[in-house]
Amino acid sequence: MSVTIRIMDVHAREILDSRGNPTVEAEVTVIAGESAFGGPCINGRNMAEAAGNHKESAGKEACIGPVGAPYPLSGKLYAGRASVPSGASTGRFEAVELRDKESRYQGKGVQKAVKNVNTVLREALLGRNALCQEEIDKILIETDGTENKEKLGANATLSVSMAVARAAAAALHMPLFRYLGGISARRMPVPMMNILNGGKHADNTVDFQEFMIMPVAADSFREGLRICAEVYQKLKQLLVKDGLSTGVGDEGGFAPSLKNPEEVLDYIVKAVLAAGYVPGKDIKIALDVAASELYQEDAGMYYFPGETKALHGSKKEVLASSDTKESCVMRSTDEMIALYEELCQKYPIVSIEDGLHEDDWDGWKKLTERLGDKIQLVGDDLFVTNTGRLSAGIRLHTANAILVKVNQIGTLSEAFAAIEMAHKNGYRAVISHRSGETEDTIIADIAVAVNAGQIKTGAPCRTDRVSKYNQLLRIEEELERVSRYEDPFPEKAGTV
Ligand code: PGA
Ligand code: ZN
Repeated sequence: MSVTIRIMDVHAREILDSRGNPTVEAEVTVIAGESAFGGPCINGRNMAEAAGNHKESAGKEACIGPVGAPYPLSGKLYAGRASVPSGASTGRFEAVELRDKESRYQGKGVQKAVKNVNTVLREALLGRNALCQEEIDKILIETDGTENKEKLGANATLSVSMAVARAAAAALHMPLFRYLGGISARRMPVPMMNILNGGKHADNTVDFQEFMIMPVAADSFREGLRICAEVYQKLKQLLVKDGLSTGVGDEGGFAPSLKNPEEVLDYIVKAVLAAGYVPGKDIKIALDVAASELYQEDAGMYYFPGETKALHGSKKEVLASSDTKESCVMRSTDEMIALYEELCQKYPIVSIEDGLHEDDWDGWKKLTERLGDKIQLVGDDLFVTNTGRLSAGIRLHTANAILVKVNQIGTLSEAFAAIEMAHKNGYRAVISHRSGETEDTIIADIAVAVNAGQIKTGAPCRTDRVSKYNQLLRIEEELERVSRYEDPFPEKAGTV
């Protein structure tokens, strides 16, 4: 006998994310039962059903076929709930986040996506076996039928995909990380913790989007989290002392107006020291430049509006002419790479995400040649959690890690496929939140399930960020003695 977890109902609603914008939340209700034949997945239905039992029978008679002792949970209902995050510095190649484009919520309503869940997706999934996640996701993909999920919305498909996994785990009485990862799920991720925000996530003059700290030398996740939180508080004190703003950006990091990356990094190093830790040993630094946001197509260069403002007192409009370089801080691809090399020599930087824009494959190749054997180079907008783009990157030897954001692709199985492809090819995978988040903590479970070793989920500030860290604390406790916490790149020691 094996267990079947039938989908009884699928229901979505519009809720708010951490920026006050609407997003999709889905609930999937399942019923536990038994399968006579064991092998549960033929096109998403179990073999007994394929042999003649109709899907409408799900729920009325949870046990299908002749079986021995009844499964003790047969006939019980369980539910899984999941909500979808949303980006601000969204990559051009991401799956489509369906927005209503009507007057309510300034066009950002998601009623169409909600309706898609409550009608076509619900209809396609009723009676299916929730244990067959890949089949469920295939149905979601095929029901949409487009390359980038533009018909139903990746927000619609992802809400259901995640809620199905949660419902299945609930019906099996398993922690989600264990359901998703099995017995090998045991590696706690090192936080890549954002403590200072810039770019599209704040209104300050910091041009790089994220400055993050990684407590690589801690002996557990819990201790790593403590170290980061202590550094965060010290950074706040330093900013207060210097009369700088301690207001926070979208991901909870402070957002003072500082004049360039060096000034930010100096503050971070000072905060690490003030907290009693050694930069480069206890704490290493990671950056997310989000360079696609800085790139000016007409000029073919990267424009730094914050640095420009710090120099001239205003953010100048960039014109597509070469003389703008005189008045604005602009950098070519080569100058960007040179800047990173310089920063890596001066500060203990071990990881740079989206150092160049999403279409600059030649530049990325050059960047990888120059820095790829020294630091981690993460493709976020470059790869968009998409195996097609990742395989191109692997073939062209660009970057050496992928940022994984489930809503960039729209189903759990596709995100897991990207992680698997990365790992098989010696690329690291960093599991990530979005700048617009909810209280959903699934990325914490995913990070442990796939032994990613790194998670990027914001500052120790605001519940939408902290909830993921708190979930990881629970998981570490659950794993007890078998949990592992390791420096993801001990061989790539940053310099101080
Ligand atoms: P986003 O930012 O969620 O606004 O895209 C996060 C990131 O760029 O990593
Ligand atoms: Zn990014």
